[in-house]
Amino acid sequence: MSKLISAVGLTLDTAYQKISDDEWRQLIDMAIGRGALKKRDDLLAGKAINQSENRAALHPALRNLSNRAMTIDGIDVMPLVKNVWQRMSGFCNQLMGITDIICLGIGGSDWGPRLVCDALYHINPKENNAIRLHFVANIDSAELATALSRAQPHSTRVLITSKTFTTLETLRNAQTVINWLKQHNATPSQIKKSLIGITANPEAAEAFGIAPDNIYPFWDWVGGRFSVWSAVGFPIAIKFGFDTYMDFLAGAHAMDEHFITAPATENMPLTLALTLIHNQKKHGITAKALIPYAHALRLLPEWLQQLEMESHGKTVTMSGETCDPTSPVVFGSAGSNSQHSYFQMLHQGSQIIPVDFIAVQEPMSQLPEAKEHHEALIANCLAQAQALANGSNETNAYNSCPGNRPSNLLWVKKLDAYHLGALLALYEHRALCLGAIWNLNSFDQPGVELGKKLAKPIQQALHGDNSALNGIDEITAARIKWLNS
Ligand code: F6P
Repeated sequence: MSKLISAVGLTLDTAYQKISDDEWRQLIDMAIGRGALKKRDDLLAGKAINQSENRAALHPALRNLSNRAMTIDGIDVMPLVKNVWQRMSGFCNQLMGITDIICLGIGGSDWGPRLVCDALYHINPKENNAIRLHFVANIDSAELATALSRAQPHSTRVLITSKTFTTLETLRNAQTVINWLKQHNATPSQIKKSLIGITANPEAAEAFGIAPDNIYPFWDWVGGRFSVWSAVGFPIAIKFGFDTYMDFLAGAHAMDEHFITAPATENMPLTLALTLIHNQKKHGITAKALIPYAHALRLLPEWLQQLEMESHGKTVTMSGETCDPTSPVVFGSAGSNSQHSYFQMLHQGSQIIPVDFIAVQEPMSQLPEAKEHHEALIANCLAQAQALANGSNETNAYNSCPGNRPSNLLWVKKLDAYHLGALLALYEHRALCLGAIWNLNSFDQPGVELGKKLAKPIQQALHGDNSALNGIDEITAARIKWLNS
């Protein structure tokens, strides 16, 4: 039975998964038994499902356009959310004279806004304002140098986005931008006016030197990789208008409603999650690909990599047992480009790698030839899925494609802020279902702390402090000495 589920302008087609009715029943029974839908209900009830940090994960509240309260410990958080909306809208009405926005942030403080702004820009390059956005995440100064070479210092605002306001890359970049402003004779009050903080740690932002009126808060019940719906999404509102930002929220909210109300057999996030579980059971897959056949969605795989692998690149469950397998390696890039890169492996490689194809029903440019381009794009997407599934029965094994390689096809009716919001929320809820099935905490990331801790003495040693070498292993110490020689 092929599953075709439509919701919020998206249509999920799992036909090439070739999952039988009986297998679907078993998958759904398993997911419910593992508490996938109960996890959903607990999340929406504001329960502390982020157990290790004893926090709720109530990111749907950030896009809650219903008049319903959403509470944590009995307190409705919607007044807080709506106040930030009001302040963001006010800022968006006072953009006169601003030419550049430097957006500093990394990880969940960068991928979401970067993806959405890039996507919306490529949908209507002419229909947005002339403000230049410069996203800078890396501590590699090349990214910042490029931004500073393009921005006009006296008409620039700097969004410093960091949930913790302690992230090395973001604070280092922020300090360098401040130095740049000073080098261009900005006065202290002009610098103060230029800096805007977006954080769940307003005290640290104020201590850094950001004026309290320029701090847009979000909260510890918002996971970093789930934060684009908060003021972290400010660049979207600034560049494309506050109404477009609200459309983005509206699409996600509509997907929330679908996730809440659709029966398990017609529930898109759950169904999408179960196709991965099926692929793991049937094919033992350890990698999966996300291939958006849309230039405007070329950053989607990178956003999904953090969502999937930072949430579920784990083997210890919330009850301390080992869970294996959990998240596969997630990769991807835009089609049709990727056909000229790793599709050879997808078709004839030694491992089966399931693919989520994403295709947009409507052409994505205003060019007179857009329809012809789009027909070729869609033809290639459909052909790749067919070839992966059916293969070719060439007598010569060398040229033959084995087939039996599953994929999903997700149609997006039209690529705009609303449907983009629905798409990202779909994958967020898919992650929630997978976390429940694997009994993992989808909302913490303990594994990233070790590298950050080890980098501190290494940086000191690279800076010439040889005493820092004591706590460093001999191979790394030798590398530092070689570099410094
Ligand atoms: O990668 C680790 C991480 O903590 C992510 O979870 C987070 O999105 C990113 O670093 C940035 O953190 P912050 O928003 O606190 O600067």
